[in-house]
Amino acid sequence: MSEQKVLSDILIKNGRLIDAASETDCIADILIKNGKVEKIQKKVSAEKIGNAENSENTENLLRVTCENSNGYVDSNVMVIDAEGRFVMPGLIDLHVHFRDPGFTYKETIHTGALAAAHGGVTTVCPMPNTKPVIDNPEIVKETVDRSKKEACINVLPVGAVTIGQMGKEVTDIKGMADNGICAISEDGKSVMNSNVYRQAMKIAKECDIPVMAHCEDINLVAGGVMNADNNADKLGLKGISNAVEDIIVARDILLAKETGVKLHLCHCSTKDSVRMVKEAKEDGVNVTAEVCPHHFILSTDDIPENNGNYKMNPPLRSKEDVQALKEGLRDGIMEVISTDHAPHSEEEKSRGFEKSPFGIVGLETSAALTYTELVLTGYLTPMQMVEKMSYNPAKILGIDKGRIHEGSVADIVIFNPDAEYEIDVNEFASMGKNTPFAGKKVKGKVEYTICGGKVVYPF
Ligand code: DOR
Ligand code: ZN
Ligand code: ZN
Repeated sequence: MSEQKVLSDILIKNGRLIDAASETDCIADILIKNGKVEKIQKKVSAEKIGNAENSENTENLLRVTCENSNGYVDSNVMVIDAEGRFVMPGLIDLHVHFRDPGFTYKETIHTGALAAAHGGVTTVCPMPNTKPVIDNPEIVKETVDRSKKEACINVLPVGAVTIGQMGKEVTDIKGMADNGICAISEDGKSVMNSNVYRQAMKIAKECDIPVMAHCEDINLVAGGVMNADNNADKLGLKGISNAVEDIIVARDILLAKETGVKLHLCHCSTKDSVRMVKEAKEDGVNVTAEVCPHHFILSTDDIPENNGNYKMNPPLRSKEDVQALKEGLRDGIMEVISTDHAPHSEEEKSRGFEKSPFGIVGLETSAALTYTELVLTGYLTPMQMVEKMSYNPAKILGIDKGRIHEGSVADIVIFNPDAEYEIDVNEFASMGKNTPFAGKKVKGKVEYTICGGKVVYPF
């Protein structure tokens, strides 16, 4: 966020404030001033806000009506009536792909950030599988500097584990951490050499940053493009079995146990991943895990013939796996919902199931899909939704976000839980329109996204 932007004060009235950190779920007014949350109170009277220009004399300031406080506001207040809306900390997506540099025909830092803002997301962690790969301190610094100028939300880059993501030589993790990476990851693949990975984990532990693990035994993939099952057989496509993921989940948990690093498992898709995360936590291992909306909503049975928008890695799994993921989220085993937002061009995704690249977009649909498929169905409370989409991601990164309290940075999303509509890819700000959810009826719409006290959506 650029420092120079003029911030007007914002008063959010009558909203349902849901804050996981303080376990607050109540109707309140929130006054935002100079980019921060200034006041949270039962009632702030908008009518009484008036001219109070630069006066030292509090007589000239109009007193804010409130139940038990004596805050003051001055002029230029934008009032948002949030009656019937959820007012939540800005969403934090630990797993996105912005394709910049190198594949800017798919997405740029600028368009990816707009997609985030449209989705209620105020902080993202873009993965390093760009061209060149984000694998050294200089390119990290460049990405951080460019993001400040080009993105309307917070961008915290993830650095690669090995140079060029080639799996051989560990990157300068400390140098990258000093320049602003929030984590390391080899996303797109796994570091198959366990010794190399263990070295990287030890350094990440010293730097106190998490390792975000894409779990896929590349030797077992053998050209697979979808879940290994009857559907793959019927379509004549090669399968990716659950073991492809599970073997690396098991290995990474064991390496995390040995090194003590914070391990965050990306896009878990199998029932055994859930079971292993549960057991690892019981064993005291420092592990967290994320699930993406497509994995907790769709199964392999939903894949229509030859539609590349249903192709992602890991693939859509069985109904049994989907059920285990939903229960894992409900039971607090799986703590994070992230998107793996992976934009590709229309042409790339029209190459049929076998030839299309892996990945779907997610930033602009994740809040609505989570609300529709997990909250309205009773798997999650609205509070748990906030936990998994904002508070827990912030805790994993160790950043002071994901909560709304007096004095906090004003990263806030205002969400209308009653709005019903069909997902329309033409409304996406992302350059990627590759989603299997186009045309799906959902409930829940992001109406305002506020980042650092500035309205970044509506645009
Ligand atoms: O589906 C995926 N797409 N999975 C990944 O691991 C990488 C991502 C991408 O970069 O497109
Ligand atoms: Zn991945
Ligand atoms: Zn990814």
